[in-house]
Amino acid sequence: MSTNRRKFLRTLAGTVGLAGAAPFYSSAQGECLLETLRLYQDVPAGQLAGDETFWRQVKLAYSVSPTIVNLNNGGVSPQPVVVQEAVERYNRMSNEMPTYYMWRVLDKGREPLRARLAALAGCSPEEIAINRNTSEALETVIFGLPLQAGDEVVLTRQDYPNMINAWKQREKRDGIVLKWLSFDFPIEDDNRIVEAFASAFTARTKVAHVTHVINWNGQVLPARKIAQEARRRGIGVLVDGAHSFCQLDFDIPELECDYFGTSLHKWLGAPFGSGMLYVRQEKITDLYPLFAAPEPDSSDIRKFEHLGTRSFAIEQAIAQAIDFHLMIGPERKQERLRYLKRYWVEEARKIPGFRLHSPAHPAYGCGIALFSLEGVKNQELGDYLFRSHQVHTVPIEWENISGIRVTPNVYTLPEDLGRLLEGIREYAETRR
Ligand SMILES: Cc1ncc(COP(=O)(O)O)c(C=O)c1O
Repeated sequence: MSTNRRKFLRTLAGTVGLAGAAPFYSSAQGECLLETLRLYQDVPAGQLAGDETFWRQVKLAYSVSPTIVNLNNGGVSPQPVVVQEAVERYNRMSNEMPTYYMWRVLDKGREPLRARLAALAGCSPEEIAINRNTSEALETVIFGLPLQAGDEVVLTRQDYPNMINAWKQREKRDGIVLKWLSFDFPIEDDNRIVEAFASAFTARTKVAHVTHVINWNGQVLPARKIAQEARRRGIGVLVDGAHSFCQLDFDIPELECDYFGTSLHKWLGAPFGSGMLYVRQEKITDLYPLFAAPEPDSSDIRKFEHLGTRSFAIEQAIAQAIDFHLMIGPERKQERLRYLKRYWVEEARKIPGFRLHSPAHPAYGCGIALFSLEGVKNQELGDYLFRSHQVHTVPIEWENISGIRVTPNVYTLPEDLGRLLEGIREYAETRR
């Protein structure tokens, strides 16, 4: 039995037992969802990916708009109702007597939550810090590493702007040297990417910055292979996991990286403003926290959590999102997202002028895809899709990347994607 399968069954059993504690699971939709999960528990992920009865039931666990089709789940994901309920419950509780309920009651959940996140990430709880988002996690590393003038960092023009800005700020302040790679995505060849990183490494390289899933088009970078090349040369590896954690089915240590940051409000469906930092145990001591701690060079991962007062309701409701994610099943989610992408892309390929700018092969891609229509301005098409079909997508212009990004989620149904296709088809016809 695989680790994921074990995790799934353990958590499903636990959640069913707790159904009375979470109002959603006692509602008609909640009970139907639990029953559906029971009925489908032995169906393999690949087979389940196209089973609309199952996924329609999953959709009922969300409170998403029944009229507007949201295909920008890459920006931030809506939370399942059970997570929203938990935030509201914990927030009301906090407001009865903030210092008591936040610091003496809810904060007691911090260590169990750390353990649950660590189980989800496949690492030790002593390697997980809970924070607010990927930016905070990665900037902790970018600003916390002991780098000197002349030290080199290898990164790409296609990394996320916040991270690029953070590195540029260090370049300006400390005189580190940024070595830029630029890729023409999509690329369905790991070696090309790994070799580009490897050939940029020198004796002065201290860090490789690797975006695991490129947010602009869903390209998956071979993070582990890059990490192996880097670590063989004593170079630290920082992975931006904003779009990979809980979208792809993997354990963080499999990547062999030193640092990994992610936002839990993306693919885990946790409350807005929740994130996580992984630091390989032996790397904790040398990494300074962004918010000062009593012992900044301690080996305790908790030194990265000295943020001051924040919402404990948001933090504690992360656990409900973990339950929900494991109940659906990480592998099932990954396969469903790939299925949805394949579904609309295959149909869209029949439209004259359609161009896909994302990898088609599942090994190099995920649920995120970028497309354009020949001779059409992305912004105008994006506006048309929303105005005429109420389909929300993201027009993107960044470096050498140009197109409209489409990101479904587990609650997206083929008929939602049908609206997107209808809009693209109509627009393409008006341009003929
Ligand atoms: C690749 C990547 N890194 C970092 C971030 C920053 O995430 P957050 O705004 O949650 O900090 C994003 C957000 O979309 C992203 O796509």
